[in-house]
Amino acid sequence: MPTSSPTADAPARLALLADEAAGCTRCGLAEGRTQVVFGTGAPDADLMFVGEGPGAREDEQGLPFVGRSGQLLDQLLREEVGLDRSDCYIANVVKCRPPGNRDPKPDEIAACRPWLEEQLELIDPTVVVTLGNFAARLLLDTDTGITKLRGQAYHFGGRHLVPTFHPAAALRGGADVLAKMRADLVRAKKLVAA
Ligand code: URA
Repeated sequence: MPTSSPTADAPARLALLADEAAGCTRCGLAEGRTQVVFGTGAPDADLMFVGEGPGAREDEQGLPFVGRSGQLLDQLLREEVGLDRSDCYIANVVKCRPPGNRDPKPDEIAACRPWLEEQLELIDPTVVVTLGNFAARLLLDTDTGITKLRGQAYHFGGRHLVPTFHPAAALRGGADVLAKMRADLVRAKKLVAA
């Protein structure tokens, strides 16, 4: 009898899922993308980040958070959690770039949702940190905005969910937003270690 856990082959299944997603045509974003930005990082990460959707740099490179927002995320991750992005998993609500960096539409978010749900199941993180309004609202199934949601952790299907601002908001919004993001990441770190 095999003794391995049901998720023992999760890295291989995640790689297969990424291959499948690479050809996705479930919504109109497929027409304008250069490539699908599926996600990156450790397939067995304890800490997973969920952003909004790829921008121009991400669409070019096929990796999430490689532009200015990503540089800030990497810095905060190092300084507040003591981790490198390769120790975590990073994904987005929508896997293809919305044209002109507009917000993703409800039908696009709904079409993309099963990819994210399979990622969550396979990676099986202890703590999910949502970045910005779209990820928090989707995963917490709420219309409440991030300013009200953040500042605490939520139960999320046997995991912890820590909502925080999108790094782009910190780049725009200055010291207060940045300080709150730092506090949220410290909260996430404690929950990972608990
Ligand atoms: N913003 C996001 O929400 N995701 C990315 O991958 C890049 C910028």
